[in-house]
Amino acid sequence: MQALIFDLDGVITNTSAEFHYLSWQRLADEEGIPFSREANHRLRGVNRMESLKRFLNGLKITPEQEADWLRRKNAYYHELLQQMSPADRLPGISDILDQARDAGIKLGVASASRNARAVLAKLQLLDYFEVVGDAYSAVNPKPAPDLFIWVAGYLHTHIKQTIVFEDSFSGIQAALHAGFWTVGIGEDEVRHAHLRYQTLENVSLQMILEQFEQF
Ligand code: G6P
Ligand code: MG
Repeated sequence: MQALIFDLDGVITNTSAEFHYLSWQRLADEEGIPFSREANHRLRGVNRMESLKRFLNGLKITPEQEADWLRRKNAYYHELLQQMSPADRLPGISDILDQARDAGIKLGVASASRNARAVLAKLQLLDYFEVVGDAYSAVNPKPAPDLFIWVAGYLHTHIKQTIVFEDSFSGIQAALHAGFWTVGIGEDEVRHAHLRYQTLENVSLQMILEQFEQF
């Protein structure tokens, strides 16, 4: 394997995913529209515009309202982001990044979020990654494979020698469409991944690489 590409929300940190949820919930409460943690599940890993569409769930609002609601949701998210620190890295992720760096394996991020760099900066992880692909890097969002291919291109790595780490259904689909090896973090949503872990706690890069030798 030459490279590892990580999704951000739900893979490197859960805190930002929680902040996305809390921001949508605040907006929903202010506007008096139904929303819940369960409903938020459908917004995971999808880009900003598509998230709004799923949030609205058929409700019609004007383009001006759309712009205002998106601006407010992002402002609420940024308020919360101020609290983020390296303590918000998910268990196991720091070790895997260190092990990859020591082994000379290239590292990239592929996130649907326009806030990916801000989150990585708060986690003090920006220096680990040769490239951060975000919502600005590719036009077609996950489950289109474009973002992952863009990151792999930047890393100068072969798709068949690259592992993608993802926690969302659309993210695993995107990586599989391109032909990457996939590690899913979670349960049912990542059932199509080559390897699955509930969490990366106590999982070493060595263990993952040994599993891929069996394929
Ligand atoms: C990630 C999150 C989504 C979020 C999307 C857009 O994929 O999992 O929940 O909606 O990014 O985030 P942004 O920061 O651009 O609003
Ligand atoms: Mg994710």
